[in-house]
Amino acid sequence: MQTYVLVAYASKYGATKEIAEKIGQVLNASGIVTDVEAIEQVRDLKPYTAVILGSAVYAGQWLGEATAFLKAHEIELAQRPTWFFSSGPTGEGDPIELMKGWRFPEGQKAFAEHIQPRDIMLFHGALDLGKLNFAEKLIVKGFKAPTGDFRDWSVITGWAVQIVEALTAVKA
Ligand SMILES: Cc1cc2nc3c(=O)[nH]c(=O)nc-3n(C[C@H](O)[C@H](O)[C@H](O)COP(=O)(O)O)c2cc1C
Repeated sequence: MQTYVLVAYASKYGATKEIAEKIGQVLNASGIVTDVEAIEQVRDLKPYTAVILGSAVYAGQWLGEATAFLKAHEIELAQRPTWFFSSGPTGEGDPIELMKGWRFPEGQKAFAEHIQPRDIMLFHGALDLGKLNFAEKLIVKGFKAPTGDFRDWSVITGWAVQIVEALTAVKA
């Protein structure tokens, strides 16, 4: 059976979408046919042999469409190799330290335990004050969150390469 991968993302301001696109580019360049879709566009997981699922983090939570997707597709996700990622912390240094040990939203951990993703990754995110609404600007200023683009494309590419290796090993 041909390996056919879906990268599904939930993104409010585009940073997570671009991470998903980079992962899709790495897989496609390696010869693994991969679709990259906004999560709310995905209707059917049946054609896909593996799924990579990512969301931006807001107030320690995945976006609503990502949590709804986990709930709606829990069984199908558990039947395939899956990988989860989040895009969140801004600032220099290890993303998990920046998030004080946070790796994955508490409320979705039961889904992760059932689905058993091959990996759960936390990437740095990007914050552009100019794109935020008034309330979000207040929150970001209140938390003194560093603004700017902290995404590390070599880390993102490296993670995607590991997925390629895992999928190739599965096929072999
Ligand atoms: C109001 C607000 C709350 C946020 N809360 C968190 C958070 O709890 N943890 C985190 O790591 N990042 C947090 N972020 C940062 C975003 O997750 C980060 O900017 C992400 O890359 C945005 O992705 P998007 O452009 O795909 O929406 C927050 C950003 C905003 C504006």
